[in-house]
Amino acid sequence: MIFGKLGDKDIMAMEGRFHYYEGYNMKQVTFPERVMYELGIKTLFVSNASGGMNPNFKIGDLMIIDDHINFFPEHPLRGKNFPTGPRFPDMHETYDKALIALADRIAEEKGIRVMHGIYMGVQGPTFETPAEYKMYHRMGADAVGMSTVPEVIVAHHCGIKTFGISIITDLGLEDTPVEVSHEEVQEAANRAQPLMTEIMREMIRRS
Ligand code: HPA
Repeated sequence: MIFGKLGDKDIMAMEGRFHYYEGYNMKQVTFPERVMYELGIKTLFVSNASGGMNPNFKIGDLMIIDDHINFFPEHPLRGKNFPTGPRFPDMHETYDKALIALADRIAEEKGIRVMHGIYMGVQGPTFETPAEYKMYHRMGADAVGMSTVPEVIVAHHCGIKTFGISIITDLGLEDTPVEVSHEEVQEAANRAQPLMTEIMREMIRRS
C-alpha cells in the first residue's frame, strides 16, 4: 500500500494485487478493499491486463470497463454478510456512469483512443483455449482477465464508486488462434500504461 497526495487529493495505491490463481481465497484477494473502506476511500480506480475478444480491438488499446461478468468459481461475498452492504447487493450500475463519461471526455481532449466493453473475470492461470475465447465472446464479453471482478464486487458492496480500465495486451479472436505469453502481455501493458495513467490522473484531479 502506498499513501500520498495527487494534487489536493489523498491517494492510497496498491503496488500489485493478490490474484485468486496464486492460491489466495477470495477473502484474502479482496482484503485490501476492506481496508480501503475502513480508511474512508470514496472511489476505486482499477486497472488490468486482458485478452481482447472484440474484433474491433487492437493490442495496446485501452478498454473502459462498462460492466463485468463474474466467472470466478468462488464469490467474494460468500459467507456471513459484512454490514457494509446488503446480503443481496444490486449490481445494475457497478461501474460509475459519471466517471465513465468523465474518462471519455478526458480521452477525447487528449486524443487518446479508448474502447468500451464488458470484462469477463476468470480464475486462470491458463490463458484461454481458442474455444474458451470464443465462448466468452459469445457470452457477451469483450475482454477476459484474471483479476478485478472480486475487488470491484467488494468495493461496490462497501459503497465505494468504481472505475476500471483494461489494457488489451493480446487478442483471442474467433477463428484466429495466436499464442499468448506472459512476457508479451507485460510488454503491451507497459507500453499502454502511460496513456491510462494520464486519463486516471486527470480524472482524480477533476473528480
Ligand atoms: N486471458 C486471461 N487473462 C489475461 C489475458 C488473456 O488473454 N491477457 C492478459 N491477462
